Amino acid sequence: MNSDELRSKYIEFFVKHGHAQIEGKSLIPENDPTVLFTTAGMHPLVPYLLGEPHPAGNKLVDYQKCIRTGDIDSVGDSSHLTFFEMLGNWSLGDYFKEGAIRMSYEFLTSKEWLGIPPEKIGVTVFAGDENAPKDDESADIWRSLGIPENRISYLPKEDNWWGPAGSTGPCGPDSEMFYDIGKEPCGPECAPGCPCGKWLEIWNDVFMQYNKTAEGTYEPLSRKCVDTGMGIERTVTILNGKKSVYDTEIFAPIITAVTGALNPGGYSYGSNADKDKSIRIICDHVRSATFILGDARAVSPSNVGAGYVLRRLIRRAVRHSRKLGIESLLPIAQAVIDKFAHAYPELKTNTGYIVQELKNEEQKFLETLQKGEHEFEKLLPNILKGSSKVLSGRLAFKLYDTYGFPIELTEELATENGLSVNREEFDEAFKKHQELSRAQGSGVFKGGLIDQGEMAIKYHTATHLLHNALRMVLGDHVAQKGSNITAERMRFDFSHNEPMTAEEIKKVEDIVNEAIQNDLPVGMEVTTIEKATASGAIALFGEKYESQIKVYSIGEGAACFSKEVCGGPHVERTGTMGCFKIQKEQSSSAGVRRIRAVLE
Ligand code: ALA
Repeated sequence: MNSDELRSKYIEFFVKHGHAQIEGKSLIPENDPTVLFTTAGMHPLVPYLLGEPHPAGNKLVDYQKCIRTGDIDSVGDSSHLTFFEMLGNWSLGDYFKEGAIRMSYEFLTSKEWLGIPPEKIGVTVFAGDENAPKDDESADIWRSLGIPENRISYLPKEDNWWGPAGSTGPCGPDSEMFYDIGKEPCGPECAPGCPCGKWLEIWNDVFMQYNKTAEGTYEPLSRKCVDTGMGIERTVTILNGKKSVYDTEIFAPIITAVTGALNPGGYSYGSNADKDKSIRIICDHVRSATFILGDARAVSPSNVGAGYVLRRLIRRAVRHSRKLGIESLLPIAQAVIDKFAHAYPELKTNTGYIVQELKNEEQKFLETLQKGEHEFEKLLPNILKGSSKVLSGRLAFKLYDTYGFPIELTEELATENGLSVNREEFDEAFKKHQELSRAQGSGVFKGGLIDQGEMAIKYHTATHLLHNALRMVLGDHVAQKGSNITAERMRFDFSHNEPMTAEEIKKVEDIVNEAIQNDLPVGMEVTTIEKATASGAIALFGEKYESQIKVYSIGEGAACFSKEVCGGPHVERTGTMGCFKIQKEQSSSAGVRRIRAVLE
């Protein structure tokens, strides 16, 4: 079974079981300052898991593009990926453990679906702790389906609890499903969940029962939900008896594009360990970069946030492609587009942008790559002579500042030569440099999930008011390019070619504040995207929408101030929002301005 078949079978199965198929969302989260990328299928659904009604109903299924960069440095081995596709089904207050587990089991084992022999399947359930009890209920359901005791493991929170990126948001115990690849057990304790390589995780059923607050408490959710995630790449690997994700049909055309670009004589993947590692890094990184650039909310390479991750991916791919003698990443990106555009049409729509940005970044880096490597090699003998085998942070910073080497790349270069980097010294030099160029704006965020506190909701409504005020003052070309909200402030990126004048800023503030003072009611309506845009609602160009979407209006009838397609939530009336103040207006990237504002 190939990835296309798996994707369609999964959707078909859950639609048959009463789920509505919804569109996967952007890779770049909106209104979520805590993560740089969508890391799981549940991510765009967080508001609904916390209680918002979903316009498509309370049983949902989709496939979602995801990026996780936690293991980026391990990419190159046979299993790690930064980009992956996740299949998922959700119950928003509908079925719970019994329904979820029974459907998972049927999909995995039924001949009509994946047909995995039941004796190949092992599971784990939550062992219980001070926050939540042992999950005997799930274990009982697995037993009733025929999974024997020795293939059910009880594991602690580190293994069997799911909450996005560790901090706040919807969470709960989970039950994970593993495939036994048939290897000998590593010892008498070897059981599902054992990391020895015998058990491969393919699916996770999360039973969302709590909202973890910023204070670290677990509040029961008003509605119990189910969130599941099945990794397409891993599942295709096991279904086809392959040893590595890179040996599947998913990567075949991308690997061919890399080996095909290798100069005369060609190269056959699998014949040299070092080259193969570089090939895997190029395949993974170019796939991720292509998806980031092909997104409706694409960022461009930069030195902060998601743009920095993108820069690291491209530059590392460039370095490895140069090592192999490959001239350009473009044919590889084209192979990614060709392979995935039928499932992710945005890759086709945005091909021009992908090509242009890749080319630019490749060019920028190539101009200095050789010089930087040369610099590094010049210093190498001296460092190797010393006893410490440490590359100084000062030199690492020079490579960053002068030659555009992301620090992680320098660390990789160092490791290849048996050295380490004085990271502390680098960080210090970097901090100093940052203080000097504060104007660039902040950017690197850590773990956690969407803030749904009172202030964040007020800021969310303020983005709608601001969006409309900007269009009134600057013109209809203004389109939202991103927003980022915390309980303390909002940031709003929009298309506009020049700095705003002080007068324009004042005008925009006044318009927003007038809308607040008028205490406008905020209304929501469920409709279709066609009807919404026909009625003048603003929608994100290029985004994919479900058949039923929500439109939020601020003000009624003739006094309607703003109308936008949006998932919510929002305040009920604007009067409670406070006084809106723009603190900063600056460039974000080419053709995009950024406003930082507060509600006082
Ligand atoms: N959100 C869960 C996961 O990513 C399903 O594993």
